[in-house]
Amino acid sequence: MGIVVNACWACIRNTVLNIWFIAAFVPFIVLKYWLESRRKVLETKGRLDGQTYIVTGCNKSVGFLTALELAKRGARVLMACRNLGSAHQARNAIVYLSGNEDVDVYRLDLSSFWSVKHFVKDVQESEGRLDGIIFNAGVGILKNKLTKDGLPLIWQINHYSPFMIVQLLHGFMKKSKSAQIVFVTSSAHHFSKFDGNDLMCEKTLCPWTVYCDTKLANILTANTLAEKLKDTGITVNSVNPGLVNTQLLRRFRNYYLQAILGSLLDFYGKSEIDGAATTLTVALEPRLKSVTGKYFSNCKESSCVSRKVKDRQLAERLWEQSDPTELTFPSKALNYLCEDDRCCSKTLEDFLLGGDAARRRPHLNRSRVFRGKF
Ligand SMILES: NC(=O)c1ccc[n+]([C@@H]2O[C@H](COP(=O)([O-])OP(=O)(O)OC[C@H]3O[C@@H](n4cnc5c(N)ncnc54)[C@H](OP(=O)(O)O)[C@@H]3O)[C@@H](O)[C@H]2O)c1
Repeated sequence: MGIVVNACWACIRNTVLNIWFIAAFVPFIVLKYWLESRRKVLETKGRLDGQTYIVTGCNKSVGFLTALELAKRGARVLMACRNLGSAHQARNAIVYLSGNEDVDVYRLDLSSFWSVKHFVKDVQESEGRLDGIIFNAGVGILKNKLTKDGLPLIWQINHYSPFMIVQLLHGFMKKSKSAQIVFVTSSAHHFSKFDGNDLMCEKTLCPWTVYCDTKLANILTANTLAEKLKDTGITVNSVNPGLVNTQLLRRFRNYYLQAILGSLLDFYGKSEIDGAATTLTVALEPRLKSVTGKYFSNCKESSCVSRKVKDRQLAERLWEQSDPTELTFPSKALNYLCEDDRCCSKTLEDFLLGGDAARRRPHLNRSRVFRGKF
């Protein structure tokens, strides 16, 4: 009798524990499926035949898939990358997957104004037209050292250099009947406390806060530019790609923190192609060709922006302080070394299917690659 009672009690206890255990996980799983059900994918059928587009930082992740899709839609793609080795591999992959050979690599290191000026000169001398620039390149949680131009690294890569490129190239873009500029920003701009006073990061030391400030700066710049270029046929918009598990958000020194964040992003985040979908919608959708000064998220226009985005005085102050001709560079020593100029994989197949790419880019599996789709 005692054995039967004990067995029944153990059975009930285990069942209750199992139910508690499952119940504890249900909200997380429901949240995942709720997020996925709200996620929009690239639907537009728009094409860019005969048009030339620059995509910055497109040797990997979201930028790579953006450039690939533009090539598939007939555009001439200028890949503006700092790491020429992996950029050429990415170019070969794009040509192979899209069947479009009109893809070229240009060297651009956004942490150096010298490189920016050379890049602009090369584009002006080699290209007959320019119909769009997608400012995708960006850095996130990086130790915020000074560049050789004496500016905070994250600010120079994410804001000053794109600003300078626009200043130097918008005249050239006016040759096209209509053109567009897209800034890839982030919902992280909501966390920005930027008041226009600390562009040298003397008080703001945390790299995450600096990243948020620069992403707010992207939207403020896009909106101000949109106004200034109103009657020129050039539209300017900003897009939030959403959370994607890329290197950008995983640069913590602490291995455990990196692993936890990586797993969370894998579980809740978007795939890289979904991350590229909003930028591609803005670039490709014919109905959006005349839309300017807007913020896009989840493949549609969104009004979910921080209050600071509407602060016109802040936008003006940022604009004045970003003017390359007005910048005064403090003479601080160069202490930044590119950490990412590392060896890269050797073959096209390695690039598409090897190591990290295979884990995080399952849509590039063999059968799909051979069908030329992702
Ligand atoms: N991932 C997300 O969850 C997320 C969320 C919101 C917004 N975003 C935005 O999306 C954009 C792309 O991010 P991602 O996640 O694809 O990041 P990623 O995987 O780290 O790629 C960043 C790209 O920028 C390039 N880059 C970095 N520093 C550069 C420099 N000094 N000069 C030229 N290119 C440089 C990188 O080139 P190298 O290979 O040479 O480093 C790489 O191609 C960024 O603007 C980011 O702020 C991302």
